[in-house]
Formats: sequence, C-alpha cells, structure tokens
Amino acid sequence: MKPKALDHGPTTHWPNLDEQDEAAVLRILRDGDISTHGVIRELEADYAAFTGREFALAHNSGTAGLMAAFHALDLQPGDEILVPTATFWASILPMLWFGLVPVFCESEMERLGPDPDDMRKRITPRTRAMVVVHLWGLPAKMTELRALADEFDLKIVEDASHAHGATWRGIPAGRLGDISVFSLQGDKLAPAGEGGVLLTDDATYYERALCLGDITRIIEIDGPARRFAATSFGIKTRIAPMSAALARVQLAKLPAHNARRNANLQRLSAGVEPLGFETFLPPAHIERVYFEFLIRHRDGDFDNAGLIEALQAEGLQVSCPRYPLVHQQPFFTEGHWKQIARLPEGSHAEIADPEEFSQTARGNARMLRLPAFPGQDQGIIDAYIEAFRQTLARIEGK
Ligand SMILES: Cc1ncc(COP(=O)(O)O)c(C=O)c1O
Repeated sequence: MKPKALDHGPTTHWPNLDEQDEAAVLRILRDGDISTHGVIRELEADYAAFTGREFALAHNSGTAGLMAAFHALDLQPGDEILVPTATFWASILPMLWFGLVPVFCESEMERLGPDPDDMRKRITPRTRAMVVVHLWGLPAKMTELRALADEFDLKIVEDASHAHGATWRGIPAGRLGDISVFSLQGDKLAPAGEGGVLLTDDATYYERALCLGDITRIIEIDGPARRFAATSFGIKTRIAPMSAALARVQLAKLPAHNARRNANLQRLSAGVEPLGFETFLPPAHIERVYFEFLIRHRDGDFDNAGLIEALQAEGLQVSCPRYPLVHQQPFFTEGHWKQIARLPEGSHAEIADPEEFSQTARGNARMLRLPAFPGQDQGIIDAYIEAFRQTLARIEGK
C-alpha cells in the first residue's frame, strides 16, 4: 500500500544555510588561498574557546580527528581500548591502523552511552583507554566512566560528534576527554560539509596529532618533533578552508539552531511520553542536544516493527536506528580487521562473539528513530503526536 503523503515542510530540512554561510565561503574564494587560509586557525580558536580547551586542531573529517587521537595516545600494538559496540564505526576503526585492539562493551539503557559496569569486567592488564560517545547528543555517564578511568589509569577519548553544545555538570562536550573529537560532517549540529576538530589540554597529544597529518604546520613546532616536518607520519588530514569557513558560521549559529531543535523535540517528547515511550529527557545536571531523535517503548515486548510499518503507512518518517552494532559487521566477523591491525606475533586478540551484547541488542531493537525536526514547526509535530496516538490505539485495539 502506498504511504499517505504528509507534508513535512521546512521542519526536517538540514543543514540550515543562508547568506552568512555563502559570504563566509565567498571570502575564501576571493582571497584565493583555498588550501591553507588563516580561517583554519580562526576555526581552531573558535572551538578552543567554545570548549575551554588549550589546543584545537582542525581535520578534514571526524574520522581523521579520531585517527589522530589514537595516534596521539602513543600506545603499543596489542594495547586494548574499551569501546561501545553501539556507535558509528569511526569511533573505533581508526585505532586499528596503530595495532590497537578494540574491546567491545555493552551500552547502558538510561543514556545509551558505554556501560561502566560492563567496561569494568573487560579490563585487562593491556587496557589503556576507553572511547566515550555521547550517542544522539545525550551525554554519557561521565561520573562512573571517569571514576573507572581514574581507578585503572585509562585515558578517555571522547567522541563528541553528536553532541555540539551539550553539557555535563556545566562542562561542555568536547572537554570531557583527555582528547576529544567533533565531526563536522554535513548532518551534524555544526556542519562544515566535511571536517573534524580534535581538542586537548595536553601539548604532547597536540604535537603528536599535528605530526600525523598536518604537514605544513609541523615546521612550527618548537621542539624535537619538528624533525618530522619533511614527512609527517604518512597521511594528510588538513581541513579545506571553505569547509572551515562554513564551520565557523555554523558554530556561531549553534545555540540558536540547538534551541529550535530542543524546543521542537521537547514538545514531541511531551506528546509521546504519555503514550508509553521513553524519550531520554536528561536529568538536571545535563543539557542534552539532539543529533537525532530516538525513542523506546517502555514495554520490552512491544512490537516495534509493526508500529514502524503502520506509522510509515501514515507518511511519518519513522525507522529503526541507523547504526548496526559494530562488532557484528563482516569487517570484524570475517576477520578483515586483523589485516589492518597486524598485531604482534603471538597476539591472541579476538573480537567478541557476534551474539554477545544482548543488553545493547535488545535495547536497540526497541528503538524508533524519528526526524530531528531542526526547522520551524508548521504543525508537523502535532501531526506526529496525533498519528502516534491513533496508530497505537488501533494496534492495541482500543
Ligand atoms: C559518532 C560518530 N563518530 C565519528 C564520526 C565520523 O565523522 P566523519 O563523518 O566526519 O568522519 C561520525 C559521523 O559521521 C559519528 O556519528
């Protein structure tokens, strides 16, 4: 049956670009330096100020920023890093290029971040760090995660790609890790087209990140690492100035953009919570943002697939969450990861069984993804709430 037409208008349109964005890009074109323009440093200064960090290094993607973060940690092949399996692959895979072994973990059900209790069980003498992702813009359980990191002397790599503007106990996402990374890819809350920013307060991490792939700036290092100026460590990660220009404007507009998304989604939350859904409203010490809007039915046996199908037939843009669990992907289950990681002789490192992490898999199966409604609402949110009400009443035979 053909789905009903539901006009979503401008409410689902993203990114939101206007004359200010155009003018910023035009400035670069007219200046003519389309490769190393000073706008890159301006962007870094903006991000350092935004997060209150000492060092910011712009990259051509969040993936490249995460790769630089893993390089910066200066670990040994075979060292282990705790990671959630419920995330985008780029939170994890870049570490393999340095021979680091991802040790997959469950995610907790309350805030959807890495589960500190499960992480604790997987710590070994080789564990050196953890990756913390604030999935969908909801800050992870930092109190417990930090306590664990302190107890076992683990570094935190914070993947803040979904969480521009979120805070935990007043501290912004982007300052919650030893090294933190934002993606600026086009769907993100402060998009640049493609781009990423690495942040840290540690000069050594910053230098190592710079040496990995920012070839033109290694010469500026005032120390022994300057000797790498003619080569870098083998890749190139510099952001394009036109992306940096866009990223600056989008960062300046972030508070207004986030305020509108939050207002829209808090209304939607208020409409669907009474219908039996958990919408991940944050506790008082957290300000969340919404990269995407996910909800979960409180009834563990609820028929999610049936509801998604029925809502889609009504014209709603409702689907399953879009990240499959990383440890279940063929790249891992067929062993390809080992080709990249090239672990030292005698290493017995293995990836968790695909059937493992039933808590995360069960939680994911109950999740529904709705639009993030970043634009001006023209009645679509009420239409969604009403469609949910009617569809559920029909399904539940009321
Ligand atoms: C959680 C997360 N980490 C990392 C990335 C990688 O960023 P990029 O696409 O900029 O390489 C993304 C998104 O794309 C992401 O969602």
